[in-house]
Amino acid sequence: MSHAYRNGQLHAEQVALEEVARRFGTPLYVYSRAAIEAAYGEYARALAGRASMICYSVKANSSLAILALLARLGAGFDIVSGGELARVLAAGGSPARTLFSGVGKSEVEIRLALEHGIGCLNIESEAELARVDAVARRLGRRAPIALRVNPDIDARTHPYISTGLRENKFGIDHGDAERLYRHAASLKGIEVVGIGCHIGSQLTISAPFAEAAGRIAALADRLRAAGIALRHIDIGGGIGIRYQSETPEPIGRFLESALAVLAGREESVIVDPGRSIVGNAGVLLTRVEFVKRGAQHSFLVVDAAMNDLIRPALYGAWHEVRSVRDSAAPEAVYDVVGPVCESADFLAKGRRLKVAEGDLLAVMSAGAYGMSMSSNYNSRPRAAEVLIDGDAMHLVRRRESVQDLFAHEAIPG
Ligand code: LLP
Repeated sequence: MSHAYRNGQLHAEQVALEEVARRFGTPLYVYSRAAIEAAYGEYARALAGRASMICYSVKANSSLAILALLARLGAGFDIVSGGELARVLAAGGSPARTLFSGVGKSEVEIRLALEHGIGCLNIESEAELARVDAVARRLGRRAPIALRVNPDIDARTHPYISTGLRENKFGIDHGDAERLYRHAASLKGIEVVGIGCHIGSQLTISAPFAEAAGRIAALADRLRAAGIALRHIDIGGGIGIRYQSETPEPIGRFLESALAVLAGREESVIVDPGRSIVGNAGVLLTRVEFVKRGAQHSFLVVDAAMNDLIRPALYGAWHEVRSVRDSAAPEAVYDVVGPVCESADFLAKGRRLKVAEGDLLAVMSAGAYGMSMSSNYNSRPRAAEVLIDGDAMHLVRRRESVQDLFAHEAIPG
């Protein structure tokens, strides 16, 4: 276990979270190196013996320290912007093992990616294909591409994070893909190398995941018959984690069922997981500023807010909240809220906790889409980040200062 109580104190690996908060302050993101390595290891084991690549989805948590850790483990990367490409490069990741996804790549981003020898651009529309072709020709290169095909499969997850249905903005319609592949294969600036899909995030059952893999594999067969041979099949990311009472099938089971569908095929297999690598490796530490008893609700006003972790406000997402140490305070039911001036600024609602003013709370499962979706709303400097490795704590991002917040601003005349 990467987070466990010892002597009544919650630890990350060998380090008491109280100690980390004392040293670096709150709000604070704390990640466990062992937990990240363990999750990555599950993917690596499941794919052993198969030509494959694990392309970590940088958007889940783009900390340079985490990217560097994963690069050293042999990961490739899945990116969605020039900014994420720059991070991968700064962390020592290989551009040749990087996929560039996303519906709105700019000319500048495409050029940057090609100049760095990107492994593959995942194309999401015909217009984008034309743009990539034009940029590649101007550079005198051929752009390696895959089409991201929308397999029209219901991932059975939250509608905001479901992406594989026809009505979503993502991907190329399944029925249109073959025509577009033929067109792509005829373009001078394009080299067709693969096919991909991604049906959504926080998937808990493997059946739709495997079904999507099967659909794009069948399409790959039709393309081969038409003389277009692909080198890889990207089956996406999206494997879910346990936040509350979900019981996601294990990573190994997801991959086993997808690999069974792809058995005997020549193409290499790519996966692009984000949440399942870092989600449960991270907690957000926050200090209770006030215990406020209202007429209907009691509130714990804490020093972290929706700008630090927006998932509860944005998706109604549930994150477990734990006391970092045993407390003698009376038990009560609380809404855990931040100082931001919005009613949606809550981290948790209706939680039974034993807490007094000044206590430290850990918001669990905050490693994915926590810091990476944070903002400076209400002119709040963003949290610091610490990576725990055994009994060592490494500050991997210092806390922002208020001066950082307006460092790029000017007052005219
Ligand atoms: N590949 C593609 C093409 C994606 O669009 C995504 C995530 C991933 C991989 C990684 O998915 P994961 O393994 O992390 O589920 N902010 C939301 C999640 C948005 C996911 C967007 N796409 C949240 O906090 O739940």
